[in-house]
Amino acid sequence: MKKSEIAKRKTLYEFPVDYLWEGLILEEDLFDRTGEVLLIPAGEEVTWKKLEQIVSFGGEDRYVMSGEKSYRVVMESRVVNPEDDQDLLEQNCGYTRLKDQVNRLLAYANKAREVPWDMAEDVAKDVMHTIQQQNMTVLLNCIDTPRPMDEQLQRHSLNVGLLNGIVAESLGMHPHEVYELIIAGTLHDVGKTMIPDSILNAPRKLTAEEFEIVKRHAVYSYELLGDDVNDRIKEAVLYHHERSDGSGYPDGLQDDIPLFARITAVTDVYDALVNKRVYKAARVPFDVLDGLRDGLNQGLDEKVLTVFIHYMARYLREKNVRMTDGSVGEVFFVPPNDLSHPVIKIGEDIRQTDDYWQCIKVIS
Ligand SMILES: [Fe+2]
Ligand SMILES: [Fe+2]
Repeated sequence: MKKSEIAKRKTLYEFPVDYLWEGLILEEDLFDRTGEVLLIPAGEEVTWKKLEQIVSFGGEDRYVMSGEKSYRVVMESRVVNPEDDQDLLEQNCGYTRLKDQVNRLLAYANKAREVPWDMAEDVAKDVMHTIQQQNMTVLLNCIDTPRPMDEQLQRHSLNVGLLNGIVAESLGMHPHEVYELIIAGTLHDVGKTMIPDSILNAPRKLTAEEFEIVKRHAVYSYELLGDDVNDRIKEAVLYHHERSDGSGYPDGLQDDIPLFARITAVTDVYDALVNKRVYKAARVPFDVLDGLRDGLNQGLDEKVLTVFIHYMARYLREKNVRMTDGSVGEVFFVPPNDLSHPVIKIGEDIRQTDDYWQCIKVIS
């Protein structure tokens, strides 16, 4: 190794690859984190394709290195769009506050072995207010964001509460029913706080015996609600895993699943699909809706599912989306029979997405 090269490495500064942007030209060479591999030579433009390559080669290790001058340019010019900063976005729209409230609610229920109704009602009122006041794109972005393991239950509970409220509003339900559906959604899995963490968060496939234990959460949720709650909320919680083909639990109901339980089943599955995503392209609701449509074959209520998908697809029209090549377009049409491949308008061009050109984020 040449002396000059060693000297050069001593001045290398490390920063996340996410901080680079398309079109940037660095004054010094850009290396990988080890300093061994030259990624982009000085003077060469940073392209979207190059950034994607660096990220895909680097896996979890998304840091790169360059000289001090380039480091300063990158760090000082870093402008984070509010819509790109998930923490800030969640804070500003009230999601973080709601999430903390739900966390306290679940923790209290777990400790006291009963749902604290004053807290539950406060959460429901706040959720309802948030749905009515906040920008729906922002809320759906919060719902559609992958979550850390230790926040899964609180986020899922809040998301199902929010989604129940959104569905109820879009169905034109009475405000009191909207409110009850929000409570039911928020508390539908409160019984999971009674399931041992070692089973609930096991990073492996559950044994048949363990799965039976997890299935008890529906009854636990029902019991934790206590006796002073109306039947619609109680039944929604108890029966949110029932399916019209009789394959659900705890009672294997078929035709007699109450409406609130059928609605909660759909929003519950939607949020589970959101959380299950393993590849980047599935970060957008189009793929989640596509996965949800399969629920028709799995005993979800056809009418509720159709209304939900129709509402989401209609809502997504004319939204701005960021594409895999970095361009920004507008959703022109979401084909009902091909939900994961929306048609995008960029300027005068209208083009359908495919396996190579996809939406990666709904912006506004
Ligand atoms: Fe559940
Ligand atoms: Fe759930």
